[in-house]
Amino acid sequence: MMFEAFALKDGIGSEIRTDVESLLTAEVAAKVRRLLVERGVVVFKGLQLTDAQQVALARLMGSVRQEGENGIYKITLDKSANDRRDYLKGSFLWHIDGTHDEVPVFASLLTGITLSTTGGQTEFANSYGAYEALPQEMKAKIERLKVVHSVEVSMRRADIEPTEANLAFWRKFPDKTHNLVWTHKSGRKSLVIGCHASHIEGMDRDEGQKLLQDLLDWTTQPRFVYRHEWTPGDLLIWDNTGVLHRVEPYPLDCGRMMHRTTLLGEEAFA
Ligand code: OGA
Ligand code: MN
Repeated sequence: MMFEAFALKDGIGSEIRTDVESLLTAEVAAKVRRLLVERGVVVFKGLQLTDAQQVALARLMGSVRQEGENGIYKITLDKSANDRRDYLKGSFLWHIDGTHDEVPVFASLLTGITLSTTGGQTEFANSYGAYEALPQEMKAKIERLKVVHSVEVSMRRADIEPTEANLAFWRKFPDKTHNLVWTHKSGRKSLVIGCHASHIEGMDRDEGQKLLQDLLDWTTQPRFVYRHEWTPGDLLIWDNTGVLHRVEPYPLDCGRMMHRTTLLGEEAFA
């Protein structure tokens, strides 16, 4: 059995070296899951998992969301392969997946199949670490605040054309209000912010937006961020409940193709 892990940065990210056979055992998958929760992101360089192996690993780590074909959802801006091209462009801005749900997805596994030659690197910001490092007076100030999250706001911020079809799609997602500071069952706290965070309930709009922007700037400082420079076959897994992510813009027709498997959430925003 081969398994080695080392930190990529102080506050976020670990690289894991293992072989596929070891990885697809309950014992190693459990270790990966523990590291994921502790480190926010785990990286396997050039692992080259097949789709079936990726789904098998996901099953060992949690409950797989039914999306795409047999648990593999294709992340690409190529219109012929994915009809949600406009929506996916929202991932160019810092976000958490699923803030329009009560229970956001726990984690995503992403394999790089075809990469872009420009842009397309993925960045992750540890919002557990960012919260922890906030000055005490800021923690006190934001303790009880609630944030309204809006798909439409996030799409407009990402400069996605508000065509009639797009507006109709965006408006299918009702706005959702979540605590700004999420206290997890583990006792850890993270910030529920990102491009979808529209405003703060009961606060002057501009003042609320400024506070949200300040917190986003704080969280996405280099000290809390891991930037992944993709090589073919890399597998990344991120803990969506404590980590924000974004992908550096890339040309729409560059052929970038990632295969994603998503693990269902296990804990509601609280
Ligand atoms: C996602 C996402 C980033 C990327 O799958 O939720 O934001 O690098 N992907 O494609
Ligand atoms: Mn995303």
